[in-house]
Amino acid sequence: MIAVEGATKSYASGPVVDGVDLTLADAGITAIIGPNGAGKSTLLSMIARLLPLDAGRITVDGLDVSTTKTDVLAKRLSILRQENALTARLTVRDLVSFGRYPHSKGRPTAVDLAVVERTLAYLDLTELDGRFLDELSGGQRQRAFIAMVLAQDTEYVLLDEPLNNLDLKHAAEIMRLLRRAADDLGKRVVLVLHDINFAAHYADRILAMKDGRVAAYGTPDEIVTSDVLGDVYEMDIAVDVIGGKRVALYYG
Ligand SMILES: Nc1ncnc2c1ncn2[C@@H]1O[C@H](COP(=O)(O)OP(=O)(O)O)[C@@H](O)[C@H]1O
Ligand SMILES: [Mg+2]
Repeated sequence: MIAVEGATKSYASGPVVDGVDLTLADAGITAIIGPNGAGKSTLLSMIARLLPLDAGRITVDGLDVSTTKTDVLAKRLSILRQENALTARLTVRDLVSFGRYPHSKGRPTAVDLAVVERTLAYLDLTELDGRFLDELSGGQRQRAFIAMVLAQDTEYVLLDEPLNNLDLKHAAEIMRLLRRAADDLGKRVVLVLHDINFAAHYADRILAMKDGRVAAYGTPDEIVTSDVLGDVYEMDIAVDVIGGKRVALYYG
């Protein structure tokens, strides 16, 4: 369980995450939605201890993230950041192998190698494994980063806008894959999505953020409504039901 108590982060302009209280990831997939600047990435970064909190406390299975050692947390929780700087000339296989580092410490075992192989195949990357990251399309590179995070094989997987740059087919495949990982392997996935309909279709819970606060938190049936979405995004959003799933219409 991820427990967030009074989590606050401020910059000169004021608080960008403002006293957030939340219990996350008792469900398989939690989607975080909300407008640009709502504080989604900041909250996720604080959970993954990439950013220190100014106030409050966050625990993962009872471990306080501000005092738990990085290598202990890294076996429990992985994160895909929104921006991934390409610092080195890595191949796809190097990058995915890098995800095993908390386990292998640079000396991969047969298990590590098998996980890398399986993850490459899972993400349709086997044939690209020798390519350098700067030789890939944006979507292929995004899949390589997702593979790196999944290869870390943690119970909690945090992904900040993982569907960026992906075409419809690969976006849907990633969501199905995460759904399977949640259902079959018991992974707890928390991900930031801009497409409300992916959230409505695949998530168990949706957390809507606005102005650094939790605007709403509940099931897709509770959150994907004209009222809630209209408040969060300050626009008219119609909601229909197709095949038992809610569908938001936000253009026109
Ligand atoms: N390092 C920083 N310095 C100052 N302001 C920041 C910094 N990082 C983020 N912010 C601001 O905090 C707010 C929330 O950012 P962010 O969490 O990235 O939002 P979201 O991911 O929901 O789009 C934004 O207004 C952003 O400009
Ligand atoms: Mg963001």
